[in-house]
This record gives sequence, structure tokens and C-alpha cells, in this order.
Amino acid sequence: MAAYEFIDHKFDVVVVGAGGSGLRAALGCAQAGLKTACVSKVFPTRSHTVAAQGGISASLGNMSQDDWRWHMYDTVKGSDWLGDQDAIEYLCRNAPAAVYELEHWGVPFSRTEDGKIYQRAFGGMTSNYGEAPIQRTCAAADRTGHAMLHTMYGQSLANNTEFFIEYFALDLIMEDGVCRGVTAWKLDDGTLHRFQAQMVILATGGYGRAYISCTSAHTCTADGNAILLRAGLPLQDMEFVQFHPTGIYGAGCLITEGARGEGGYLTNSEGERFMERYAPSVKDLAPRDMVSRAMTIEIREGRGVGPNKDHIFLHLDHLDPKVLHQRLPGISESARVFSGVDVTKAPIPVLPTVHYNMGGIPTNFYSEVVTRDGDNPDSVIPGLMAVGEAACVSVHGANRLGSNSLIDLVVFGRSAALRAADILTPGAKQPELKPSHTDAHLARFDRLRNARGGTPTAQLRLDMQKAMQEDAAVFRTGESLASGVARLDKIHGQRGDIQVTDRGMIWNTDLVETLEFDNLIGQAAVTVNGALNRTESRGAHAREDYPDRDDENWMKHTLTWFDDATGKVKLDDRPVHSFTLSNDIAYIPPKARVY
Ligand code: FUM
Repeated sequence: MAAYEFIDHKFDVVVVGAGGSGLRAALGCAQAGLKTACVSKVFPTRSHTVAAQGGISASLGNMSQDDWRWHMYDTVKGSDWLGDQDAIEYLCRNAPAAVYELEHWGVPFSRTEDGKIYQRAFGGMTSNYGEAPIQRTCAAADRTGHAMLHTMYGQSLANNTEFFIEYFALDLIMEDGVCRGVTAWKLDDGTLHRFQAQMVILATGGYGRAYISCTSAHTCTADGNAILLRAGLPLQDMEFVQFHPTGIYGAGCLITEGARGEGGYLTNSEGERFMERYAPSVKDLAPRDMVSRAMTIEIREGRGVGPNKDHIFLHLDHLDPKVLHQRLPGISESARVFSGVDVTKAPIPVLPTVHYNMGGIPTNFYSEVVTRDGDNPDSVIPGLMAVGEAACVSVHGANRLGSNSLIDLVVFGRSAALRAADILTPGAKQPELKPSHTDAHLARFDRLRNARGGTPTAQLRLDMQKAMQEDAAVFRTGESLASGVARLDKIHGQRGDIQVTDRGMIWNTDLVETLEFDNLIGQAAVTVNGALNRTESRGAHAREDYPDRDDENWMKHTLTWFDDATGKVKLDDRPVHSFTLSNDIAYIPPKARVY
């Protein structure tokens, strides 16, 4: 192995990732007087939160009466009763304050006539425990994530967060089950770094790029999830992958659900507004899992549009062009650029596209990472937290409601900071690090850097993406998932033949892509294994061979461990938290999920 040297850093808190949750956590820790670093693969304002369009949910009640309990009810029902109700209560009751905090920091929200934050309708958000759609999603036109990210980056700088930009996180420094820090490779000068900290907060997003067609940026490889698996810890509920109903046909880019929130609707080849058949009360504003399934069924039954009858139309052409200009300028441009459509005149061709991972790193509502330890399913890993899409709190359960992601980022980013401030002492002495803590990190890095096989990374990545797209799609069967397990096992086995041609340390994108592929393949494997294991249909996990939800046997979270040497997956479970935090709302018992 080549000789590598680390440059050492010592902080109270190191946040890995500079999207919405990473910035909110870093900002809170820095404000609390903790010496805080934020380590990011990309420039903070290029993190994937920048692509979030439609908005952030909170029961502000600016458009009509609202209540955080209604929001909680919708979120539990949207999750198909797999969400942890203590965490969902925490999310929904803290959401309004989190949005006002963003407003006060300077997020340029769209406004109502009387100057309040504008709110639009989103799927599954209802008034009075399911009565009718409600406008609960606070929006900055259709660039809400962009506005939040820029505002929070500015605030983080103002509060002395120290940024380490374009650093690729490699592995966690673990000692006797305690996290002591993280190692990283600085992309622009090739140096390697050891970040020691009392607390590491993983805010590394989702792994949409395990699929071919997704709304996610190319950087969305959930490196933190993979780092956790390599540390011998489990991921949770990875079989629940959200397909957003309206990805642009062919390109996969997002057309916000806010388009339907503003009055847009879907049609099939017969010009029929088919969602009226599938969700008679909320129609096009049904939750995403239901709309994606309905679209897939329409296409399968020969009612798709286009020459190959393989997509669906989204109509905005009946809306006032002034509304489109004011509220949906970004997607109007995306439709023009990526599908050649003028939204004021013609419908947009759309197709369900991978958008979000409900699963991730198991945490409690303080954002502390947890695992099953014998009889204790909520055992905390000291020194380690996770937030945002990387985490599985779990507030989204089996299906996330649109606009519940941005609010998850800031509510749990804040909760992580509050907890860190509670349990850490600024400047506390930290144990010395030893080479044995990081030898394995360097061995993996060196092995991949010097890989001299015959199969380019791009080929293995494409094979993995095809397997995921075909075998772990909107609808799954035992047969398709078993095929996915076998295909991914084979691809994992071919890593020994991987070919990296650039041996340099500076801006080696060949090695970056290889590290990312190596991170994705384990996540893909736990996804299909978890999906094969779960013999029921719930939320986004639609098994054609097990079409019903089975609360008796399956109201539990899946835990998956991955053995990187053998490619084998180990499964276990944790109970769903079927209790609330306070007497302000009672546990919401499961019932049929009808809209
Ligand atoms: O459709 C959208 O604007 C996406 C929002 C979300 O995923 O929460």
C-alpha cells in the first residue's frame, strides 16, 4: 500500500453534508458554542436540497384553519402506519416554529395578498383528519429548497461554522462502539484528513443514483449510509423507495407536485382524468405511492400516451399564465428545456421516477443513531447522529408525503443541534487516535485507487442501475426481487475486476465515481433483500404477490446489515413506535388507507 499521511483536525462536532439538514444542524451547534465543522462533497449551495421545488409543510393556517394534529394524522396515514408516532408528533408540532425561523433568517417565501407566507396544496395533506385537501405547503415559488439552502449557508457562515468544501468522506473512526470522527479525501489537492470530534452528524442525503431514472443529482449516492454499513451498523426500511409521479418523460427531472397543488391534473390516452377513479376524494392530490401506482396501471393497461403509449400527460395548460409565471416559473422552464413543451399550450409528458428514500440510518427523534442490541431495539451509538434523507427517524414510514422532507431537514437538524448542546461540553478532551483506527479506511482507498481489473466502473454502475430499475420498481414480485438479489450479488462479486485508470490524488473523478459505486452497491443489495423479505404491500412497497398490508406480521421496521467482503445481507427488525410524546394527541391506530 502507498504511504498516506493524514492532516488532523479536532472539533466538538463534525457535520458531514451541507444540504438543508446538515446546514441546520451545523448552524445550531455553532450557535450553541460548539466548535463545528461542516465537511461537504460539493459546494454547500450545490447540495441536492437546492433542487427541492414545491415547498415545506407546516400547519401555519395562512390559507384556512389548520392544526398540527391534522398534519400529524396525515403523516401517519401517509406513512401507511410504519412511521414512528413519537417522532411524527415532534415533527408536526415543531414545524410552524421551524418555518418562522427560516422566514426570520431571510428565506424569501412567496406571499399572500395580506403578506403572509403563501401555502399551496400537496398530496395527502388534509384538513380535519382527512376531510378535504388543505393548503399547508409553504412555498418560495417552485424554488423553495434553493431559497432555504442559500439562506442557511449565509447564516452558518455568520455563526462561525467552519466549512471543508469538496472533501469526500471515506469512513467513520470507531473505537469500541463509539464514534470518534471521520476520514476524508480533499478532492482539489489530494490530501487526506482525519476529523476528530465528540459528535459526527451524517447528513449525506439519499441514494437515488442506485437507479437509472431519478430526480436526484449525480452526487446523490448516500455516502453516509454506506459508511455506516462498513462500520458494521444496520440501515433501516431500505425497501421503501419513493417514486415521484411526475418526472419528465425521458429526462427524469422533477416537475413539482406543486403543479398539481396549483390545479394541474393527469390524463391518459383517452383524455380521462383517471385519478378520479383511484382516489375519488383527493384525486390528483393523493399521496405519491398511490399516484405512481395508478399511472403505472394506466400504462400497463394500454392507456399510456405517446407513440409507445408509455407515459402520461400532466396538464397545466388550463391555468392562468400569470399563475404559472408567478408560482411555477422553474418547472415551466424545465418543461421547455427537457421536453420542448410550452406549459401554457400543451401538457408535459411525465412518468414516475425515483425521488426519495424513506429508509436510511435509524435514529431516535433526538437524531441519535440507534441499533438493535440484543433485547434493546433503541440502543444509542455514542458520538453519532444522522439527519435528513440519510436518516430514518422514522417520520415517513413506508411513504413520505410531499413537502414533509424539507420540514424534516430543519426540524431534525435543529433537534440534533439541541441534543449535541445538551450532552457535549465545548472543548472537552478527546482520546488520542491510533493508526489502527484508520488502517482499513486507507486500505480500501488504496485498493480502489490502484484497481487494475478489466471492467470500467461505469459498466458495473449501469448494470446495478438496470437491476434496480427493473427488479425493484413501483410494483415488485418475489420473482423480480429474487432476480434483483442475484443480479446485485453478481455485480458485487465483479468488484474484484473493477478498472480505475487514473491513479492521481487530485481531482480524480474516476476514483470519485468508483468510491461512489462502491458505496451504492451495498445499499442496492440491502434494498432488494429487504424488499424480498417483506411479504406484504405497504406504502411505496407494492408486492403484486402480497397485495395487502399485513399489520399482524409486518408492522415493524426492517434492519439490514451488509457484509462487504461476502456481499451477504443480514436482516432483523425494530418495533414501530406506537406511542406519542404527550397527552396532546393519542396514538393513531391503523386503519384502511382510503383517500
Ligand atoms: O414535488 C416536489 O416539489 C417535491 C417535494 C418533496 O419531495 O417534498
